[in-house]
Amino acid sequence: MGERLTVHRGNAPIYDIVLSGSFDGLAHETAKLGLEGRKLCIVTDTTVAQLYLDTVAGLLKDCCGTVTTFIFPAGEAQKNLDTVRDLYRHLILHRFDRKDWLVALGGGVVGDLCGYAAATYLRGVSFIQIPTTLLSQVDSSIGGKTGVDFDAYKNMVGAFHMPKLVYTNVTTLCTLPEEQYSSGMGEIIKHGLIRDRNYYDWLKNNRTRILTRDEGICLEMIRRSDEIKRQVVENDPTEQGERALLNFGHTLGHAIEKCMGFSMLHGHCVGLGLLAAADISVSRGLLTKAETADLAGLLPEYGMPLTVEGIQADEILAAAGNDKKMDGGQIRFILLRSIGDAYIDMSVTMDEMRQGLQAVLR
Ligand code: GLY
Repeated sequence: MGERLTVHRGNAPIYDIVLSGSFDGLAHETAKLGLEGRKLCIVTDTTVAQLYLDTVAGLLKDCCGTVTTFIFPAGEAQKNLDTVRDLYRHLILHRFDRKDWLVALGGGVVGDLCGYAAATYLRGVSFIQIPTTLLSQVDSSIGGKTGVDFDAYKNMVGAFHMPKLVYTNVTTLCTLPEEQYSSGMGEIIKHGLIRDRNYYDWLKNNRTRILTRDEGICLEMIRRSDEIKRQVVENDPTEQGERALLNFGHTLGHAIEKCMGFSMLHGHCVGLGLLAAADISVSRGLLTKAETADLAGLLPEYGMPLTVEGIQADEILAAAGNDKKMDGGQIRFILLRSIGDAYIDMSVTMDEMRQGLQAVLR
């Protein structure tokens, strides 16, 4: 059972996203990239290493010259330049040259950090993404955004660097903690909201099977989300325009995440941001109240909160004003014309955002 999507630049294929119910096809997909005799470094964290490193290393060692592993402690706190420096040292020690490869095995932290090291080591080496969390399978492994946090600023240092392959084994979701699965659902619901009303309805109608993480339904869901992300990043790889639509719910969601000291999961904060942005869309006469009520009904079905306590609108707005989504001092806000149809709006005021936040602040 499996699927393949191909990301293009113009008419040229750049990389495949392979969706599978196992790691069985990994060696074959990797061998096609021509790694014979090359060194390959699998970058992963302590959690994922215990679960999948032996299997993945065992499969990859037959497609290349040597496999080394770089394992760092799990958690967002490690997504920084110190860990990147340790990785550079590992690569230098093992004499990696420009034709050698990195492999990111894990969630968004591993993928972003490994991708950034790949973008910068010797001015760029090739890398493969093997995402093992729902969030990384539907979002961070696709589209070539790489980077690390710097001081208190999330993803402040980074580069666009496309992987050569994204290989997703959806059965890795079976070992994912429930709250992490729920966090990934925030990005998935966002995909339906920005681009595809049928998909949004499908997410409502298939809740029970999605929650059991049934392999077939996960393959279908991830394929549909990846297809939306593929189209958007193909049209606008470096976020000059359309790619900003993927930031729906993120301007306020990310600001909430920051004000909460990153104690809430990213997808849950995005869910709150979706609600606040939907509320602004209602005030603008675009969405109906019934549609936002529908969204507010769906999010908790997937374990997502509807409200947050202990932070004030003013601090969220100050954090939003420092965000990367700013454009010449203006916030590039994403609103919905209707469910399945998002657009970029440069005219959303602080007052409108304050009003929208009232929908989620307690
Ligand atoms: N996660 C948003 C993007 O890839 O553009």
